[in-house]
Amino acid sequence: MQARPVDYSRTTITELMIPSYANFGGKIHGGLLLSLMDKVAYACASRHAGTYCVTVSVGAVDFLQPVDVGDLVSLMASVNYVGRTSLVVGIRVNSENVQTREVRHTNTSYFTMVAKGEDGNPAEVPPLMLESYDDVRRFATAVYRRRVRGELLDNMAAFSERFTIDEEVRAALANERCVLHVK
Ligand SMILES: CC(C)(COP(=O)(O)OP(=O)(O)OC[C@H]1O[C@@H](n2cnc3c(N)ncnc32)[C@H](O)[C@@H]1OP(=O)(O)O)[C@@H](O)C(=O)NCCC(=O)NCCS
Repeated sequence: MQARPVDYSRTTITELMIPSYANFGGKIHGGLLLSLMDKVAYACASRHAGTYCVTVSVGAVDFLQPVDVGDLVSLMASVNYVGRTSLVVGIRVNSENVQTREVRHTNTSYFTMVAKGEDGNPAEVPPLMLESYDDVRRFATAVYRRRVRGELLDNMAAFSERFTIDEEVRAALANERCVLHVK
């Protein structure tokens, strides 16, 4: 399978934030932004894979800045990593005030997508051609993130399995804002 460069699938979606996207506080719903991120991740992954793709995992999403009604939100997506059938799409979200032209970075997130063949099974994707320093940095960072996440998930599973309310847990919760009232 021939490698495809990152530029082959780089995708940007820009959308005007209209009043119906706002929450009760007058700011844009986080869920609306998540939906736009899923959309741009799909477009970017499908362009690279040349097939239909599904979202399998969404990395941590931290909204660093509120987005206002009237802002122009741009979501810039590129493939950061490919496995055999999976792809990690990095998405940077910027919000622009169209009157002042001030641009704010609202968040960066990573969506893992899986390519599907016509039979509905995961399908092999083309390798990624890394043509710049940033391409290599993002790919290597994704490899590192994948390994660290695997270790974290193993540790969390082990923690849940051996969990019991013992002295260690009581000590860990002593300075937290909770009251143990277990009968
Ligand atoms: C994604 C899906 C096809 C994976 O199925 P599966 O039986 O685990 O398939 P495989 O074990 O062959 O894994 C396929 C790839 O997904 C990756 N993968 C599976 N679960 C993953 C997870 N939780 N996080 C990251 N990657 C994951 C595997 O590492 C593998 O990648 P690789 O081929 O690059 O090594 C299946 O879980 C699915 O269809 N999920 C529903 C997706 C969906 O509908 N999304 C929309 C949101 S509602």
